[in-house]
Amino acid sequence: MTRATMSGLEMPAWSCVSEKRLAHIERVTALLDEWARKLALPSEEARAWHDAGRLHDALRDAPEHLLRELAGDSPDYATEMLHGPAAAERMRRDGERRTELLDAVRYHTVGSANWGRLGRALYMADYLEPGRKFSRADRAYLAAQAPHDFDATFRQVVRARLEWSLREGMRLYPEAVVLWNSVR
Ligand SMILES: [Fe+2]
Ligand SMILES: [Fe+2]
Repeated sequence: MTRATMSGLEMPAWSCVSEKRLAHIERVTALLDEWARKLALPSEEARAWHDAGRLHDALRDAPEHLLRELAGDSPDYATEMLHGPAAAERMRRDGERRTELLDAVRYHTVGSANWGRLGRALYMADYLEPGRKFSRADRAYLAAQAPHDFDATFRQVVRARLEWSLREGMRLYPEAVVLWNSVR
């Protein structure tokens, strides 16, 4: 069962997102659709990119006990990181079998060095979508570059996200450090 948003995005019945979050999901999905078009991706791959945007934050506003129950073996994550593994598990229980899509959603909060193009595209779109208030010009530039210089843009985004984490005194997750070492 699904329910359609104002812009026609089909969210699953189990999704748990505020209006504000939904607007973010719509922007991330629109950016992924735009990149997929510019890269002339085959329709199946473009569909997977669209679904990654649509579903990555589907449990972003779900209660913590539900997130912990679904995320299972990721107990080491801070609460706000759990919605990635939780959504992937919920999708799996729903019958989703596209491994690359599940991995993109599962690791989108921390990053993964094992990602192919899909996980990397989601990680970039999540950060570069135009609704975020900081570094607007830099991020708009990177969003425009992504389909032309995918790997270099990804590297820039990983660097920016880690720099932000350090500046804010946030914890660095091992997955994020391994990812940086794989692209630097
Ligand atoms: Fe997220
Ligand atoms: Fe997001």
